[in-house]
Amino acid sequence: MLNARATLDPAFVVGDLDRRLFGSFVEHMGRCVYTGVFEPGHPSATPEGFRQDVLELARELGISVVRYPGGNFVSGYRWEDGVGPVDERPTRLDLAWRSVETNAFGLDEFVEWTKAAGVEPMLAVNLGTRGVQEAADLVEYANHPGGTRLSDLRKKHGAEKPYDVTLWCLGNELDGPWQIGHKTADEYGRLAAETAKAMRLVDPRVELVACGSSNRGMATFGEWERVVLDHAYDHVDYISLHAYYEEQAGDLGSFLASAVDMDAFIDEVVAACDHVKALHRSSKRLRLSFDEWNVWYQQRFAGAANLPWEERPRLIEDEFSVADAVVVGSYLITLMRHADRVGVACQAQLANVIGPIRTEPGGPAWRQTIFWPFAQAARLARGRVLRVEPVAPSYDTAAYGPVDAVVLTATHDEESGDVAVFAVNRSTTDEVRMAVDLRALPGLRVAEHHVLTDDDVRASNSATDPDRVRPRAGAGATVGDGTLRLRLPPVSWNVLRLSASD
Ligand code: AHR
Repeated sequence: MLNARATLDPAFVVGDLDRRLFGSFVEHMGRCVYTGVFEPGHPSATPEGFRQDVLELARELGISVVRYPGGNFVSGYRWEDGVGPVDERPTRLDLAWRSVETNAFGLDEFVEWTKAAGVEPMLAVNLGTRGVQEAADLVEYANHPGGTRLSDLRKKHGAEKPYDVTLWCLGNELDGPWQIGHKTADEYGRLAAETAKAMRLVDPRVELVACGSSNRGMATFGEWERVVLDHAYDHVDYISLHAYYEEQAGDLGSFLASAVDMDAFIDEVVAACDHVKALHRSSKRLRLSFDEWNVWYQQRFAGAANLPWEERPRLIEDEFSVADAVVVGSYLITLMRHADRVGVACQAQLANVIGPIRTEPGGPAWRQTIFWPFAQAARLARGRVLRVEPVAPSYDTAAYGPVDAVVLTATHDEESGDVAVFAVNRSTTDEVRMAVDLRALPGLRVAEHHVLTDDDVRASNSATDPDRVRPRAGAGATVGDGTLRLRLPPVSWNVLRLSASD
């Protein structure tokens, strides 16, 4: 048994929680779109061809913003292919994922889907093979009220009102040699700045995300951010981060600690942004868009190079375990702990492709293990993120050295008075006895308590056993003498809602 403690005090705040932290990502990759969110002919399909079962799960997941259409896919994409009458749309080769793209789903369908799901669209423009003009054209098609060729084309396609998309990514992972149209930092920085200026001329409301590094391990990481922002700082609002983690060589302890890397990555990108802020004597503080993050077993994916040309191939349909869900919980906590600088975050991807939602064509949809921490955090995190510094014993990891066994954050909703506490115990062996000082928040009682853990950390959900892993009601959490006391089982995700009113 280990002991850990923390103090919650509404006087100490990280920042307001932006709902955009609970974003997701729909890429034309594998079966994320086709037979994922979109499957005309499925028993649950809406008249538009959207899978109603997936829509319901997306709503339950609580996603706020959805990035589209890629990913690597966007760097070879012509947005015009995905609008207007479906039978006139071209079938193309998708070079990023070596797939055949029918374009039966495109911008017009995606915007309709976001309305049905009740989420905000976040669009990426192609800065791989295309440039300033095509990006400005896309903003005109999407956002201009009417009276011009492209805005009238949107109307002709059935959308009288503008789509009013405000959040836009200036390309995707253009630092990566794998990217179609890969660029140097100078080339991309110039292009991003000029594209941003043109997009803003079409619609001054747009909020723009410049591509940061594809991952923290890129040889150009740090310098890429400096050079890109040297060109684009005044013209963009966010810089992106992407990170995927997996268990390496059976080292569960290191994998459970991988949020340490995410945490350091965020700190370093903040430093890179603020370095350019200082160089430019700017008063603007850039925010971060962590617009791809998740667990992804990349070792199991041989890449797309040798795949046959197919429509909607089964790509990276990882089946997630209890341990993966606990790790995803630790990433959510890490993102919330940086709510002062991280304004957008998108779990990659929504359905099938390393997604929290899995589907079978013509068959069921179900929740993967990683669905649960996301859905609970999105539902219960409200208001402001409190600055909490838990004190916990550490354990040794091969990848990160000594790491705290507990990662924890809390939110405080001033309106309702509710406090939500999210905690992960990373220890594979020890239960943690947790004491949380609540003297600055008197009158709270435990209103909800959920725990996701399992004797078998490798257990997962499947089409035949979709509820094998799910959170259970927690037991034994008490508030007394100004202290919340609870036990965190080994390898567990724990959520409490504390309320003065229920
Ligand atoms: O999410 C899968 C891929 O990972 C995305 O297309 C790309 O941006 C990243 O490398």
